[in-house]
Amino acid sequence: MNDPRHRSAARARLAAEGAQTEARAREPVAGTRPIRSFVLRAGRMGSGQVRALAELGPRFVLPFQNTPLDPAAVFGRSAPLVLEIGFGMGDATAQIAAARPDTDFIGCEVHAPGVGALLQRIDERGLANLRIVQHDAVEVLEHMIAPASLAGIHVFFPDPWHKKKHHKRRLIQPAFVARLVTRLAPGGTLHCATDWQPYAEQMLAVLGAEPGLVNTANAYAPKPDYRPLTKFEQRGLRLGHGVWDLVFARR
Ligand SMILES: C[S@@+](CC[C@H](N)C(=O)[O-])C[C@H]1O[C@@H](n2cnc3c(N)ncnc32)[C@H](O)[C@@H]1O
Repeated sequence: MNDPRHRSAARARLAAEGAQTEARAREPVAGTRPIRSFVLRAGRMGSGQVRALAELGPRFVLPFQNTPLDPAAVFGRSAPLVLEIGFGMGDATAQIAAARPDTDFIGCEVHAPGVGALLQRIDERGLANLRIVQHDAVEVLEHMIAPASLAGIHVFFPDPWHKKKHHKRRLIQPAFVARLVTRLAPGGTLHCATDWQPYAEQMLAVLGAEPGLVNTANAYAPKPDYRPLTKFEQRGLRLGHGVWDLVFARR
């Protein structure tokens, strides 16, 4: 029993069992797999994006964590904080952050090339008021954002999930909107935009029915000046789609 060969074989067996247990713990339990609002695509990263991730990621990409962020520690100051969900390639995000230096921004995106692209914009513009979390925004909101801490939330051109069987993947649904409201400070705004009319109608119905929100417009809002045209919006406009903005405030 005390033979060192037996001890090392036993250690190897325990390690293998431990690894299997850990792998099983990460597997979704049948029927409980969360419905995600995105599908991770294996997008190709440009060499500039790869370099930006390696060189700028450590400074501007915040790792996902299970505890609320301290924005004052992250940004080194106390300022209104805006969360953007799904920034895509981040062009609009960088433009907004550059135009509003008195506000701090956290952008969430799961698509790595987009993260690399926004890091490049951060570098070009020398932005100090923007950080990125490369993780599911639903989990970021739940764990990293303290209640009543946001001055604003931007959800610009979320995936419309056109097919009826995929509508459950849309972000703007009653339960998630109720979670968003808990993170807004009173008076804080939730700004959504879409170029897909059926989704715009869903947004108007869902946001209008949320008791914690009040519409700042009669129905759809005029495009606020701070929102530049995004890449997806330009494509939608070229395809002849309309664009609908919705700006609701927390009561
Ligand atoms: C249709 S694109 C729009 C991108 C950008 N807002 C624009 O207007 O150009 C939607 C983006 O949201 C991201 N996304 C969807 N669900 C997400 C989630 N739960 N967390 C983080 N990003 C998400 C997708 O990866 C995608 O890049």
